[in-house]
Amino acid sequence: MRGFGKYYQKSWEERLAILRDTYRLDDEDLAQIKHLTSDPTLGDTMIENFITEYEIPEGLAINYVVNGQEYLVPMVTEEPSVIAAASNGARLVKAGNGFHAEIKTRLMLGQIIIENVTEMEELVQQIEQQKNHLLEVANQAHPSIVKRGGGARWLRSRVLADDLLSVDLAVDVQEAMGANMLNTMLEKVASEIQLTLHQDILMSILSNYATESLVTVKTEIPVKALSKGQISGKQAAQKIQQASRLAQLDQYRATTHNKGIMNGIDAVAIASGNDWRALEAGAHSYAARDGHYRGLSQWKVAGESLVGEMTLPMPVGSVGGSIKIVPLVKINHKLMQIKNARELAMIIVSVGLGQNLAALYALVTDGIQRGHMRLQLKSLAASIGATPTEIPKLVKRLEEKGVRDSQNAKQILEEMRKD
Ligand code: MEV
Repeated sequence: MRGFGKYYQKSWEERLAILRDTYRLDDEDLAQIKHLTSDPTLGDTMIENFITEYEIPEGLAINYVVNGQEYLVPMVTEEPSVIAAASNGARLVKAGNGFHAEIKTRLMLGQIIIENVTEMEELVQQIEQQKNHLLEVANQAHPSIVKRGGGARWLRSRVLADDLLSVDLAVDVQEAMGANMLNTMLEKVASEIQLTLHQDILMSILSNYATESLVTVKTEIPVKALSKGQISGKQAAQKIQQASRLAQLDQYRATTHNKGIMNGIDAVAIASGNDWRALEAGAHSYAARDGHYRGLSQWKVAGESLVGEMTLPMPVGSVGGSIKIVPLVKINHKLMQIKNARELAMIIVSVGLGQNLAALYALVTDGIQRGHMRLQLKSLAASIGATPTEIPKLVKRLEEKGVRDSQNAKQILEEMRKD
């Protein structure tokens, strides 16, 4: 591709000029790219070959009561029904006592993989004997975290094959996401193992299967809060229980069930400046922890209540990474009024459970399309060029006429404009 050699060394304006010349972007395209770019210097410090910022809407989920405290939850998502559903799920939960969340440990895990091992038993013993020294090496690689009360906590060996050993390191990263910190420590410990134990290192990297950062959220909702039209609250609750059972049994359904949970989790993770790909990977891996991929949440009817529970790895940070540099992320932290990463993790898992409840409730009562339709028609209206004042009127007409496609919608918009 011509013009792209050392693209990263070019100024932002030069990069755009190359795009204009090579891809025939017109003035309108360039104006749009520039309009979307709030801070090219910031963009350049965050990623390579920066050209602009991609817009995804941000909104607020309401009704979230977690451990007795009510939160406003910023969510970033392009999917029309997600925030409304998150708020609806939380409204149902509020009819009970809100979400009860708990974190047992908050440690990040990383792996040092040793390959070509010939004397496995001996090596495992040596690592066990050197444990304290290796933890010390890890801490020396990042003394500032030790000063802040964190640091390497434990180390274990797992034999993966006759010739392959994983040395797992658990680190208290305090308020950070801790990826860089952990990777630095792992590489230092790996060098020490290589030098003193004369072993071959294959790789050193954190694990996104964050089993030492689990958050459990529970809720109990009076079934009467779930009645809808002809369906009694008890019937709706029983159907939600059945939907939950289905997600334990069938991988096809479990995947969609969990996708709904991640709709909420990713949206808050993005808004709070956290690595949502890491959370996705960890959640799906956790969903398959017994060798069978299952729904992450469980719902059961107990007397006159519907009881929900979900446990998930939630290794989020409240400082560092993009959190300290992206202005909107800083504002989002202020809106949530969280004191620390633990509180954030508990809110995020609560949103996942709230989102799941709203999806299951809709699926087993009205079906998902009814609630979605209005929002989808709004998107359709916007996509065919309806102005903000035209949108509500157009949506009403599309609803009345049962129109769902852009060609017919355009025609109706034209008629509406002629009127
Ligand atoms: C859509 O984005 C999410 C749902 O499919 C989740 C579910 O089926 O549980 C509605």
